[in-house]
Amino acid sequence: MDFNLGEEQEAVREAARDFAQSELLPGVIERDTEQKFDKDLLRKMGEMGFMGMMVSPEYGGGGMDTVSYAIAVEEISKVDASASVIMSVNNSLVCWGLEAFGSEEQKQKYLTRLATGEIIGAFCLSEPEAGSDATSQHTTAQDMGDHYLLNGTKNWITSGNTASVCLVMAQTNPEEKHRGINCLIVEKGSDGFSVGRKEDKMGIRASDTHSLMFSDVKVPKENRIGDDGFGFKLAMSTLNGGRIGIAAQALGIAAGAYERALQYAQERTTFGHPIFDHQAIQFKLADMATRIEAARLLVYKAAKDKDEGKDYVKSAAMAKLYASDVAMWVTTEAVQIHGGYGYVKEYHVERLMRDAKITQIYEGTSEIQKLVIARELIK
Ligand code: CAA
Repeated sequence: MDFNLGEEQEAVREAARDFAQSELLPGVIERDTEQKFDKDLLRKMGEMGFMGMMVSPEYGGGGMDTVSYAIAVEEISKVDASASVIMSVNNSLVCWGLEAFGSEEQKQKYLTRLATGEIIGAFCLSEPEAGSDATSQHTTAQDMGDHYLLNGTKNWITSGNTASVCLVMAQTNPEEKHRGINCLIVEKGSDGFSVGRKEDKMGIRASDTHSLMFSDVKVPKENRIGDDGFGFKLAMSTLNGGRIGIAAQALGIAAGAYERALQYAQERTTFGHPIFDHQAIQFKLADMATRIEAARLLVYKAAKDKDEGKDYVKSAAMAKLYASDVAMWVTTEAVQIHGGYGYVKEYHVERLMRDAKITQIYEGTSEIQKLVIARELIK
């Protein structure tokens, strides 16, 4: 087993770390408080190549492997998990889905702009009554011959207001159950497409999360991705890779909180000593570092499985399940190490603790990951 990263992967880490420190760190507290993601920063992330890292260069992407992508998400998440979720959804769910399953025309029309960050994409699967139970789609795409008529509501959509292009899952043939679901490319601004209220979230507050409403939206047939009824398979296949992105995000949140706690423990003194000298704090930091390292190995293993063309359903689910629990636990301990300072915004760890929680929920809750893993065990 080779645990070493290649030169390109190390260079990606350095570039992402520098970008996070110089561009994302200033203002991260204000953006969280005001729930504002700066479009200028999004543009810069595109210029840095972070929005379409794994997309082939012929479609404007970086042509990088999944390990490099995971490293970049990890480094950006140490500082700004709102930025990294926008990045992760655009890379793993939107660009990957389009490149893997889209037609040449769809790739030329949409992927080339999504991969450079010129425009942002959204992935629309969840509904008011279809979160974990994703086959239960109430949004309908009625086949009208040369187009579909789209009706329904999607919930908790990352980049819901910013996105120019949405991949929308909708039911066309209910008697076929999940095999009747289609994935349609829907452009913002289409007649009948409206953006609902912005969610006032616990964490990742600087990403814009909205519900989206579709009322008799006409979607041309050529905007369906894949064959008739392929939409659910597309959503599940895409989410397998998306879970590596969210696992990397959880890893980064944990590592960011740990790095701050380690530094604080050496600066803060109590009873005449830096608190690092107290064994109670040393043991916490030792446990934090160990669990983060274990999470990192799982995340990189899942990414490597994907890069090597192996089945990565189980390894991606395991990485997300474990890394998200580590993120929640480590960030809580980081707040504890900071004491009263940890409970206020200035020291960053309270934000990271709030950000950590969503990694146990989106792109499949921890309970769904266990279900996925268990099903893989008896395959
Ligand atoms: N990879 C590929 N295909 C898969 C799959 C996977 N991981 N999981 C299921 N499938 C396929 C199955 O093979 C089956 O297809 P066939 O019948 O053609 O063989 C089909 O999907 C249905 O699967 P099941 O019979 O297992 O369906 P189920 O209802 O029992 O379970 C589920 C499905 C695994 C629970 C699924 O609904 C699920 O993953 N739910 C969680 C949804 C989720 O992750 N939502 C995230 C929202 S997106 C988001 O959060 C983005 C964001 O903005 C951050």
